[in-house]
Amino acid sequence: HNHLKGFEPDFKWGGSTSAYQFEGAWDEDGKGPSVIDSRPPREGITDYKVASGHYYHYKEDVALLAEMGFKAYRFSIAWTRIYPLGTGELNPKGIQFYSHLIDELLKYGIEPIVTMYHFDLPAALEKEGGWSNRHTIAAFEAYAKTLFEHFGDRVKYWLTINEQNMMILHGSALGTLDPNLKDPKKELYQQNHHMLLAQAKAMILCKELLPGAKIAPAPNISCVYPASSRPEDVVAADNFAAIRNWLYLDIAVFGRYNTLVWSYFEEKGYTPDIQEGDMEILAAAKPDFIAFNYYSSATVKASTGDSAEKGGMGDQQISVGEAGVFAGSGNEYLERTEFGWGIDPAGLRVTLRSIYDRYQLPMIITENGLGAFDVLEEGDVVRDEYRIDYLRKHIEQCRLAITDGVELFGYCPWSAIDLISTHQGISKRYGFVYVDRDEYDLKQLRRIRKNSFYWYKNVISSNGSVI
Ligand code: BG6
Repeated sequence: HNHLKGFEPDFKWGGSTSAYQFEGAWDEDGKGPSVIDSRPPREGITDYKVASGHYYHYKEDVALLAEMGFKAYRFSIAWTRIYPLGTGELNPKGIQFYSHLIDELLKYGIEPIVTMYHFDLPAALEKEGGWSNRHTIAAFEAYAKTLFEHFGDRVKYWLTINEQNMMILHGSALGTLDPNLKDPKKELYQQNHHMLLAQAKAMILCKELLPGAKIAPAPNISCVYPASSRPEDVVAADNFAAIRNWLYLDIAVFGRYNTLVWSYFEEKGYTPDIQEGDMEILAAAKPDFIAFNYYSSATVKASTGDSAEKGGMGDQQISVGEAGVFAGSGNEYLERTEFGWGIDPAGLRVTLRSIYDRYQLPMIITENGLGAFDVLEEGDVVRDEYRIDYLRKHIEQCRLAITDGVELFGYCPWSAIDLISTHQGISKRYGFVYVDRDEYDLKQLRRIRKNSFYWYKNVISSNGSVI
């Protein structure tokens, strides 16, 4: 590997979190409820009321990130801390919290990378129809404007919406859809259209208000493999790649709907209602880079046309499939995490290359990581060698992709510090730092450095040459 190119000297090594999974203080200092807060928790799994208590521990947390040598930190702002009802009255204490957090990061020379919306739609907007209601587009634009005005002097990197594609593909799971709808997919793609407009408006506004800043979408992108070299499986893989990945990035970058997906909409009756002026707005907005989350690849096969065939775990243990379009499949070549997610480091290289090939924009990985049942041993030791192994292999593949010619300027694995997972509580941990609490016993929320903490510190200080 002597010919390998290295990481750029200013490569943004960091880590990620999201507000609702990390902060806690769910109804404090004027914060309004989001869809996350208004949903009943799953059985045996904690809610998000306290989470990791970052709201009160932020100084200690930022000091830990600084100790690892973080160059960047990707976090999300809770819309309901800024606008408790999603729109209308501003909450000054919310502005104050993020202002302090940003200052604290800058004190250590850590670049803030801000996600504007990470699954936590204000409950008040949801009551009015959420993303089905075009009013939410204006609310998001006003919220974006507020963020730019208050933090734009210090924040140079902005991400619009986290994993819009996952919210649409697994819409009901994220609670933004009425389960009684007759045709939920049609409605989801209508919501999708509105979210795309909201994103476009935020990107346009960012250019206007903050000429020095950069903004990007942040979908979850996975390369899609055909289950075999059977041509029908390859067509299915193409279909799923368009529906899962390219729909979202093509609109963001090229300002138009992906043609394969549009034909699929027409065939299935999912075509969204597009109002006059919508396509012009989508065409006018341009991202400066591409941020994406990667956990694993996806594998699909040809559909037999049977609507009950969903089955196989396409990716991230999510069953995928749609009659006549593609069907989920396993991938016998991949190892799996304790939670059943495929581990595919080479798939990250494939993903980086295909995104770059298509869009020729600089990229940053805003999530990648391994969820596991970490064990806190006596003497405050967490031997998470499996996490080190996972991250090491993915960083190796980043280097290979850079050598292939892609522009990758940052790596922010999930998660900087332990937080609550989307469906499996605190028991499924991702961080470099252990947060001492159980599902229901909150203990003291003590922060404990895992073995991966010391490992990542070395990765960063060697700029990725010692992994
Ligand atoms: C991403 C999300 O999909 O995956 C995060 O952006 C999430 O919010 C992460 O936590 C890991 O998924 P999970 O379900 O293990 O928490």
